[in-house]
Amino acid sequence: MSRRLWTLIERGFQPGKQRHYETLFTIGNGYFGTRASFEEGLEGDSPATLIHGIYNHATGTLVPDLVVAPNWLPINLTIDGTPFQLITKTNDIMRPPQGYVLGYERSLALDTGVLHREVLFRAASGAIVRLIFERFASLHNPHIAAQRLRIIAVDGSPQIGVEAALHGDVSNHGVAHWLPEMTAYAEGDQIGLEAKTSQSGYVVGMASMVCGVNTTPSESSGMRPTLRAAFKLAADEERTIEKFTAIFTSRDVTEPLETALDAVTTAQQRGYDSLLTDHQAEWAKYWATSDIVIEGDDECQLALRFATYHVLIAAPRHDENVSIGAKTLSGLGYKGHVFWDTELFTLPPLTFTQPTLARNLLMYRYHRLAGARKKARENGYEGALFPWESTDTGDETTPKWSDPQPDGSRIRIWTGDSEQHISTDIAYAVWHYWQWTHDHTFLTRYGAELILDTAVFWGSRVEAKNGRFEISQQIGPDEYHENIDNSVFTNRMVVWHLETALRLLDWLAVNASGDYARLVASLGLTDVRLAHWHDIIARMYIPFDDARQIHVQFPGFFDMEYVPVPNYTPRTTSVQAILGHVRSIQTQVIKQADVVMLMALLGDAVGSREVMLNNWHTYYPRTDHGSSLSPAVHAWVAARLGLIDDAYDMFYHAVHIDLQDNKGNVHDGMHAAACGGVLQALLFGFCGLSLDDDGRLTIDPQLPEHWRRVKFNVYYRGELHTFDARNPVLDTPIA
Ligand code: BGC
Repeated sequence: MSRRLWTLIERGFQPGKQRHYETLFTIGNGYFGTRASFEEGLEGDSPATLIHGIYNHATGTLVPDLVVAPNWLPINLTIDGTPFQLITKTNDIMRPPQGYVLGYERSLALDTGVLHREVLFRAASGAIVRLIFERFASLHNPHIAAQRLRIIAVDGSPQIGVEAALHGDVSNHGVAHWLPEMTAYAEGDQIGLEAKTSQSGYVVGMASMVCGVNTTPSESSGMRPTLRAAFKLAADEERTIEKFTAIFTSRDVTEPLETALDAVTTAQQRGYDSLLTDHQAEWAKYWATSDIVIEGDDECQLALRFATYHVLIAAPRHDENVSIGAKTLSGLGYKGHVFWDTELFTLPPLTFTQPTLARNLLMYRYHRLAGARKKARENGYEGALFPWESTDTGDETTPKWSDPQPDGSRIRIWTGDSEQHISTDIAYAVWHYWQWTHDHTFLTRYGAELILDTAVFWGSRVEAKNGRFEISQQIGPDEYHENIDNSVFTNRMVVWHLETALRLLDWLAVNASGDYARLVASLGLTDVRLAHWHDIIARMYIPFDDARQIHVQFPGFFDMEYVPVPNYTPRTTSVQAILGHVRSIQTQVIKQADVVMLMALLGDAVGSREVMLNNWHTYYPRTDHGSSLSPAVHAWVAARLGLIDDAYDMFYHAVHIDLQDNKGNVHDGMHAAACGGVLQALLFGFCGLSLDDDGRLTIDPQLPEHWRRVKFNVYYRGELHTFDARNPVLDTPIA
């Protein structure tokens, strides 16, 4: 196994990129994620540990945030009295008396989630030390984090000072979420912190221990319990220090700090190497099914593993009450909220590589049906209407207003009111999961209710108008055009939704009659309601231009100004930003795949090949890719249409969105949907993985010319299959 294709490397310290790299090098285990901030801190850094489910709505803010938990990373060193620190201003790096950095390299092993950093540092005294930091978030025991620091005296025999701490004085960009009364504990060889969120009342407990040096506890500031140590290194001597941290919340246990103190003792007794071995073994199990091999394109191979790694560290393992936020657990963007990104982008690849994880994510929605029913009722509808942005409660948490613009004004955000396709997206993910897994228990107990009650919503939402059914005031995937009537994406997906609900009922009647009767009674699925669904399917308005043989994104779309997006190439910002908010909404510039998204989800059911190609050639040049969700979907559809050059361009773009930070916003967190999207583009697009009408697994590869081979695994109805698609002679055995 070539390490090169499994390792993300930062060579040389690049001060200006640190907040970007803090995101890329995030470690996590589906319980918490920790950005790759340095142990010793850095001016301008943004350290954050985010724990699934710990939201809080602070006074004075519009909506809840996923809360930055106390920081467990700090290990501060002095070398002969010189504080070890990397300096952000480039011209200061070489300037004593701070000491200076002679060498720097950081790497993340994607196969094991171990973050490694090596620094050669010269203290003001002239002594030189090699510092080798390592850390991981245990995948075997998700409550445990471990750090190892090797200090090697390369020149001289320096006096070393160590402070290993927990920092409770953290905030979300200045917004305080923790009550100021924290419990800080420092006794014997242990430190601990317990903190409570101000509104939601979640409690987090953290405890740390240090091995390899004798430490003295101290709690001087109230929020930073610290273990201190001092020792002298002889010339060439090496000392290894290990710090173990345990993390629990009141979502898991009744006494988070007590539990953490016990757990960290056990971890420390097990020792670093033994924890690491278990952790690596656990990672190996995930990669055994999730790895996709691309031969012939090392750059994309590494980027693809990077995307898979981030999906795997974000996906909750043992919790049905949390889901993956748009920015995973790697940054504060979108406040940790959950969008359709999960169901249509991140979750589907898990469905056939890690079905248990996909099921957990669907259960998150099942457990939030009450919130969705409340939202439907409050808006005057029946059934379940899921929130566009979701957190722990299941209530709508989309902010109604943007952050202040440069002129101080705020823009009204309509997605929470009008982006109602989210309910169908969830139904789609449930159906997709069931098709691939045949997890009948999930379907009959939980999934069916999700599909059916969201269908009930649509039955009450559509409007009988002009001798047909219409849906007004929607936002489709293209969020540049708000509150439009008859979004073709939404209307067509609603038809799919109602058709699927009826198919599902037929299946339940035959195969699970008890559940069928229960659901018919509890959801009010009367003959009259079902007849109404049939009627909607038959008479839903699907905007289509007969002359041009294309779907119309919404009536009136082509009456707006045409702005050819390719004319703005190359650019580092969206066309929307160039044109301005007000003008761009009056043009045909599309934020992201919309009709193209419909083609990805429904494939041939959308129309003939001719119509699909017409749609592609119409909408591709109008698309801004102002959302990171867009390029992967384009790659997927282009590959299916045989437009392999366009498909590769879009794929390359999508798979590098975070690595190259083209939009300059990766410091806010990874783009979860782009990560999931590229996996789908590869499998559904280039490899043509699909289920035929009879539910049989098929592939139909159309690979870029320079790819020799794509090899991947798929769980299909309980059995694991390995596909090996080769170019130019395609060989597709099912193992
Ligand atoms: C996109 C949405 C997406 C959200 C969160 C927006 O910019 O338009 O489709 O759900 O970001 O990723």
